[in-house]
Amino acid sequence: MAPIKPTHVALIMDGNGRWAKKRLMPRSFGHREGSMALRRLVIDLVGAGVPYITVYAFSTENWSRPQAEVDALMGMIGEFFSSYIDELIENGVRVRFLGDLEKLPEGAKSACLLTQEKTKELERLNLNIAINYGGRDEIARAARLIAQKAAKGEIDPGSISQKDIEEHLYTKGIPDVDLVIRTAGEFRLSGFMLYQCAYAEFYATDVLWPDFTIEDFNKALAAFGSRERRFGGLGADGKQQ
Ligand code: IPE
Ligand code: IPE
Ligand code: MG
Repeated sequence: MAPIKPTHVALIMDGNGRWAKKRLMPRSFGHREGSMALRRLVIDLVGAGVPYITVYAFSTENWSRPQAEVDALMGMIGEFFSSYIDELIENGVRVRFLGDLEKLPEGAKSACLLTQEKTKELERLNLNIAINYGGRDEIARAARLIAQKAAKGEIDPGSISQKDIEEHLYTKGIPDVDLVIRTAGEFRLSGFMLYQCAYAEFYATDVLWPDFTIEDFNKALAAFGSRERRFGGLGADGKQQ
């Protein structure tokens, strides 16, 4: 039997700075290489049997980096989507953004919104890009939206359920994360998909993000295939007893 594949894989793309440092290059050089690694990987993932991919591109905490690095990243986001949009459309990739795009500079924001709009009917691969995203921020936002509806009498506060929360997250309609992959040898979520990762499997690799390829992705899938997920129950062994 073929190993079970995850439906939704989330990638924490880390290590761009270290990749550049090893080459005595500025951090922005690592970010540029990192964006090319993402571009190559997405094309390889089209038709690979994992329908939802989410990547962490910029966190709500990344604004605390030096202004020059933030500016370089924002410039790259705008450039990336303007130059990549046709390739995404040709490959049938639907792009959605998770996070508050309002805080982005106009060029980056409009490139993101245009990409989202122009790819919204496509369905070969669902690619979610987390930009100015933080899991705590997302949960606080959901609470705010629900409270506003409750104040208007549209939601009964006494019956707020997990489903109500899920419907007010950026990932509304997107299945839970099955597998989180983090590159560059770190073992933490850094605020990524805190709600959606409740039962996700975690896979860490030392590969720095600009070097990450479909082969590395497939290694993570193989590891996932050998995990036993129990979701709080007893799993396969328990059921046999
Ligand atoms: C990940 O690479 C990209 C972003 C967070 C934007 P880093 O920039 O965090 O690279 P390291 O961790 O410093 O090597
Ligand atoms: C997480 O990486 C955010 C992204 C990959 C966009 P960081 O490099 O910002 O995380 P920490 O600071 O090492 O936890
Ligand atoms: Mg990092």
